[in-house]
Amino acid sequence: MAYLTIIAAIGQNKELGYKNALIWSLPNDLRFFKKQTEHKKIVMGYNTFLSLPKLLPNRKHIVLTSHKILHPEVLCFSSFNDLFNYLNSLSEEVMIIGGASIYQLFLPYSQELLLTLIQQQALADTFFPDFNEALYEKQLLDEQNENGITYQHVRYLKKSS
Ligand SMILES: NC(=O)c1ccc[n+]([C@@H]2O[C@H](COP(=O)([O-])OP(=O)(O)OC[C@H]3O[C@@H](n4cnc5c(N)ncnc54)[C@H](OP(=O)(O)O)[C@@H]3O)[C@@H](O)[C@H]2O)c1
Repeated sequence: MAYLTIIAAIGQNKELGYKNALIWSLPNDLRFFKKQTEHKKIVMGYNTFLSLPKLLPNRKHIVLTSHKILHPEVLCFSSFNDLFNYLNSLSEEVMIIGGASIYQLFLPYSQELLLTLIQQQALADTFFPDFNEALYEKQLLDEQNENGITYQHVRYLKKSS
């Protein structure tokens, strides 16, 4: 099975997005996202795929959708089961990049959550799912301040049961 890592940037109320776009503009956090996802497979839902300004270089895009995306570099799955079986056949780290519906589906199967915890609240229409912090070892990677916004990069590693 692939090693599944969820990566997301969330506000104090777990805000993820608004009107199918990101809420905060944090260039250093986007660099962190790039570093963590480059040369890996990235799994996303259709809305997140639509929200991308362009395909992200050096990453294999995998989209869960009932739509047909006719792009040679994009791999599509129309059912979670088929996508899960595909991931089950892999033995590499795969990044789960959102949005809310995809995080919800993959939370039980993800060994790791790589979260940018933004110390602000904002108007949002999509939220990261609630998760049980007690199931994870929490590791603070760094704290940053950009444009007056403080945020931490935190790794949550699932404890072995
Ligand atoms: N802050 C962050 O780190 C972050 C990261 C990613 C996204 N976001 C934000 O999150 C928002 C988007 O999240 P979202 O929850 O609305 O959308 P999403 O999870 O990106 O995509 C939802 C779509 O994926 C497809 N899908 C989901 N489950 C499926 C299943 N079991 N089988 C087949 N297709 C399935 C459906 O598309 P079809 O209609 O094609 O079937 C569904 O409408 C945006 O605002 C985005 O900017 C934030």
